[in-house]
Amino acid sequence: MQNKKIVILGTGGTIAGVAGNASNVDYTAAQVAVSDLVGSIAGSALYGAVETEQVAQIDSKDMSFEVWTALAKRVQHHVSRNDVTGVVVTHGTDTLEETAYFLQTVLSPPKPVVLTCAMRPASALVPDGPQNILDALAVARHDGAQGVVVVCAGAIHGAEDVQKIHTYQLNAFGSGDAGVIGYIEENSLKLVRNWPVAQQKSAQEAIENIADLDHTNLWPRVEIVMNYAGANGALVDVLVASSVQGLVVAGTGNGTVHKALEDALLRAQAQGVQVLRATRCTQGRVLARADDRFCASGGLSPVKTRILLMLRLMGMNP
Ligand code: SIN
Repeated sequence: MQNKKIVILGTGGTIAGVAGNASNVDYTAAQVAVSDLVGSIAGSALYGAVETEQVAQIDSKDMSFEVWTALAKRVQHHVSRNDVTGVVVTHGTDTLEETAYFLQTVLSPPKPVVLTCAMRPASALVPDGPQNILDALAVARHDGAQGVVVVCAGAIHGAEDVQKIHTYQLNAFGSGDAGVIGYIEENSLKLVRNWPVAQQKSAQEAIENIADLDHTNLWPRVEIVMNYAGANGALVDVLVASSVQGLVVAGTGNGTVHKALEDALLRAQAQGVQVLRATRCTQGRVLARADDRFCASGGLSPVKTRILLMLRLMGMNP
């Protein structure tokens, strides 16, 4: 374990947050440098060499394409180093699942890239961030670990399945029907299913993907609309008039859509807007039907379907 070097990239979040009092809610995210977060953990508890690097310092609700591109570049750089076993990324919980899916889709790393977070700020009386960092290090050093995963509250989630499902509890993430990949128990891993499947992407392809993100100075505009009682599709018409390039509909149940919304989406599709059908249900997958007018997203949530569609519109083949 000792000679397995891990790079820890900081991006902000509650894990780096500071409150003026003992509150776990009234705090400002993204205040503490990742070097200080790691430095506050007893060196012996880190079980080996770590390097830190600050890639961004933001509340993840403000995640941007620029930060995603910078992060993808730094992850790819460190994953390619012979002396590095894995990468840990500290990140806010709010868009963690989007960044995880984005990194997995673009890089499909052969080494572990472990995103971790906290629900309480670093200044809390009992913060959860330090234990999450230690758990993430244990995952990043585990023989056979690969791909982008999320570690929170002692559980390991795959990038494709993970979703934030609670606003307050420390165990804020779930993996739906897929279930977790495993658990971290006193620095050891108890695995209950396989690591994310490596997509046979070469390092060269990952680098080309990142170059595409850089050269596309305007990422395609893809928006999410939702189906609900009384949905009328007026929003879709406004989006089409303002040059939206792709739409994800968070449908009801198996991705079903109100007739009026469906008509608006069909008008959008006829004008060249790509439409994908996801579900607003937090569990289960959208199954294709014989009479489908819009392609189904499979098991991806609406926010991840949006990332998939953006990358496709940029010419990638995720
Ligand atoms: C954030 O997502 O940056 C703030 C919220 C959190 O990390 O829990």
